[in-house]
Amino acid sequence: MPPNLDQIPRERLPALLRTMPKAELHLHIEGSLEPELIFRLAQRNGVTLPYASVEALRAAYAFTDLQSFLDIYYAGASVLLKEADFFDMAWAYFERAAADHVVHAELFFDPQTHTERGVPMETVIVGLEHACRRAHAELGISASLILCFLRHLSEEAAFATLEQALPYRRHFIGVGLDSSERGHPPEKFARVFAKCRDLGLHVVAHAGEEGPPAYIESALDVLKVERIDHGVRCVESPALVQRLARERMPLTVCPLSNVKLCVFETMAGHNLPALLDAGLCATVNSDDPAYFGGYINENFIQTFEALPQLNAAHAWQLAANSFEASFVPEADKAAWRHELERAFEAEQPR
Ligand code: ADE
Ligand code: ZN
Repeated sequence: MPPNLDQIPRERLPALLRTMPKAELHLHIEGSLEPELIFRLAQRNGVTLPYASVEALRAAYAFTDLQSFLDIYYAGASVLLKEADFFDMAWAYFERAAADHVVHAELFFDPQTHTERGVPMETVIVGLEHACRRAHAELGISASLILCFLRHLSEEAAFATLEQALPYRRHFIGVGLDSSERGHPPEKFARVFAKCRDLGLHVVAHAGEEGPPAYIESALDVLKVERIDHGVRCVESPALVQRLARERMPLTVCPLSNVKLCVFETMAGHNLPALLDAGLCATVNSDDPAYFGGYINENFIQTFEALPQLNAAHAWQLAANSFEASFVPEADKAAWRHELERAFEAEQPR
């Protein structure tokens, strides 16, 4: 950590949060579909939506829990049919990410949401991969893809999905587990995750968003994940918090999502400060930014605004954690840490 972080005045924090380089590690690309793009793609593809207008769709974004969100999120994804649709969706995200000084992004995608509607796996992966390549070439963002299995579906369906995706193995770096958490514990996917690890894929899983700390433990012990997505309910088990800290197991925390989905009543009640103070490798991410009211910088800004105990040292730690937790070579992490140091040095009083 650079010296004199405590000399950075609080009023400089928003600018610092915006301009510091950062990695985004928990972003569902289908959750970046803005209502305007949903309507544009619906028109382009002749899909009829159950909403009369962009405004009517946006008005439906009043969620009471994860499932109430997922129902609308899967309906929104129904406009994605062609390779160009997947490209356009991801490119729109990358343009926003570049504006937020994201230097590296690991994007989740939900192929089963599309293959179940008859969209070929190739269409999904090739469209997204094309956008990742262009983001690197034109925006300087390093980007990769993580294929998520839908946990409300069977392990057999996950195996079939993996089989369909293997011809495109070079285009994704890992697998994850998302969708409805309650009633679908990680151990349901033990065998398919074992196969993915054998294939050399990175493995992550959503756990402890709505589900209990025991789901975080089984994600670690049974699925042998390298990161926990969300994980905020770990605080209910002090022994688990200690373990996560000892193992430096990253948690990809999504504050705006947690408030929108009523995991926390208010941002002021979010446990991010407690997670950081316990020494956990927590990161800040946007989850489904088109649905939850903001991209990654908005997550940083609103979290720091609502939680005055968060300071410049926490900002530094969160950005440094995002690089530490990335699935990239050490040399890339070191280069981004240098960029981070320069961003903070620029804010030191002279
Ligand atoms: N799919 C998209 N966003 C999700 C979330 N926050 N939790 C579980 N599955 C998701
Ligand atoms: Zn998520």
